[in-house]
Amino acid sequence: MDYSKTLNSIIKDVNQIMRTHPKRLLHIQGVAMCMESFAKHYHLDEEKALVIAYLHDITKKESDRWHLENSYPTYQSIFKNYPYYSHALSAAFVAKEKYEIKEASILNAITYHCTGYDELDIYAKLLIIADVCEPSRKHGDTTMLYQRALNDVEVAYKMAFEIKYQTHINENQTIHPWFIKAKEKIEENHVIKNKNNY
Ligand SMILES: [Fe+2]
Ligand SMILES: [Fe+2]
Repeated sequence: MDYSKTLNSIIKDVNQIMRTHPKRLLHIQGVAMCMESFAKHYHLDEEKALVIAYLHDITKKESDRWHLENSYPTYQSIFKNYPYYSHALSAAFVAKEKYEIKEASILNAITYHCTGYDELDIYAKLLIIADVCEPSRKHGDTTMLYQRALNDVEVAYKMAFEIKYQTHINENQTIHPWFIKAKEKIEENHVIKNKNNY
C-alpha cells in the first residue's frame, strides 16, 4: 500500500493542528523519528510506520466529550469512564473517516497505543515503545529502551509498558481494563519465554 500522499497530508495537518501546542508536536515528531528508525532496522514499511506515528496523538488536544463523540459506538461505553485513554479512539476514528485508512494494523496500533491489548503486531508494539522513549519524553534515560528495541522488541515492549503503567499510577489515573489485560498477557508471555529458556 502506498501511503506517500496520505502521509504528506497527515504531516501538514498535524503541523497545523499542533501549531499552538509545540510540546505535543515535538512529541509526535520524536515518535515519528523513532518509528522510522525502528521500521528501517526491522525492514518494515517506513511510510506505514510514519502514518501510525503522526496519527497516534492527532486528536490529543480535543475535549473528553469530543473524543467520545468522535469514536465508534462500540467503544463509547467501554471508554466513557476512562477519559485519559479516549484520544486513542478518536485518533483511530479520524484515521479511518478522514484519511480513509482501512488497514487493521494501522488502526489497531493507534487504538491500542494508550491501553495495549491482548494481541498486538510489531507496529503496535513499536508505537508503544516509541511513545515512551522518544527524546522529548521525560521518563528518565530512555536511550537504553531505544537501544533495547533494536535488539529485542518483546523485552523493550514489556519495559515500555511498565513505564507507562507506573506513569499512569503516579498520575492517579483510573487504569483501563484493556491495560490490565494487556499487562497480564505480557507477564504470561514472559513466564512462558523464561520456562522455554530452561
Ligand atoms: Fe497518546
Ligand atoms: Fe503519544
